[in-house]
Amino acid sequence: MNIILIGPPGAGKGTQAKRLVAERGMVQLSTGDMLREAKDSGTEMGQRVAEVMSKGALVTDEIVIGLIAEKLDSLGDAGAIFDGFPRTLAQADALDALLQKRGTPIAHVIEVRVNDEALVARISGRFSCASCGEVYHDVTRPTRQPGICDVCGSTEFTRRADDNEESLRARLMSYYKQTSPLLGYYHAKGQLSVVDGMGEMDIVAQQISAVLDH
Ligand code: AP5
Repeated sequence: MNIILIGPPGAGKGTQAKRLVAERGMVQLSTGDMLREAKDSGTEMGQRVAEVMSKGALVTDEIVIGLIAEKLDSLGDAGAIFDGFPRTLAQADALDALLQKRGTPIAHVIEVRVNDEALVARISGRFSCASCGEVYHDVTRPTRQPGICDVCGSTEFTRRADDNEESLRARLMSYYKQTSPLLGYYHAKGQLSVVDGMGEMDIVAQQISAVLDH
């Protein structure tokens, strides 16, 4: 089963995607993670991507569709969770075409709805393990033992360069201008479900499971 998680920056898409990977053996396809990898590669494309991301704008459709198409080529039978993709109508059309070719359409599009004020708190407290990428939060999800990753035991952590208030404002603007029209598109196709992302992580996960098991 293929699903899309859609929501503003910091809504909890990545957090919930990782839970679905652990609980259901699905594969997380996060264009944000793919672009950060490209950025770190030091290539010319990576440098262009870094500049766009630091401004909180969207990377070109051509680049992200290419990244997703490449990943789909090597995807086995496990269901995919599209996390942060599609973000424009052109990306949504491209995804439909790619999945139609594979004969594995989107089963559910899940909007994780969170108030803008809560997003600032989530983004400003986020940090990740530098080794395995597990995502934490200073207040809502600290490591069990201070300074030690729960998953891999690493003591190195990072904070994202675009996790600041100025960049968040730009990312939110991109979301409302370019991505939120997708909600109407998927609603019209009868694929959209909405979960309340303001609750605790476990409660949000239960709501998502209820949609998938419906
Ligand atoms: P991307 O990496 O996709 O960032 P994003 O969409 O801004 O989303 P985030 O990763 O910031 O948030 P999230 O919803 O995953 O939240 P998380 O689970 O971490 O994209 C980055 C950039 O790449 C874009 O700005 C753009 O430039 C580019 N890009 C990416 N995809 C693109 C595309 N398709 N087209 C063009 N450009 C693209 O949670 C956040 C924090 O809150 C964490 O600390 C977490 O622990 C905490 N938290 C989570 N859930 C809860 C909860 N229920 N209660 C309390 N705290 C919670």
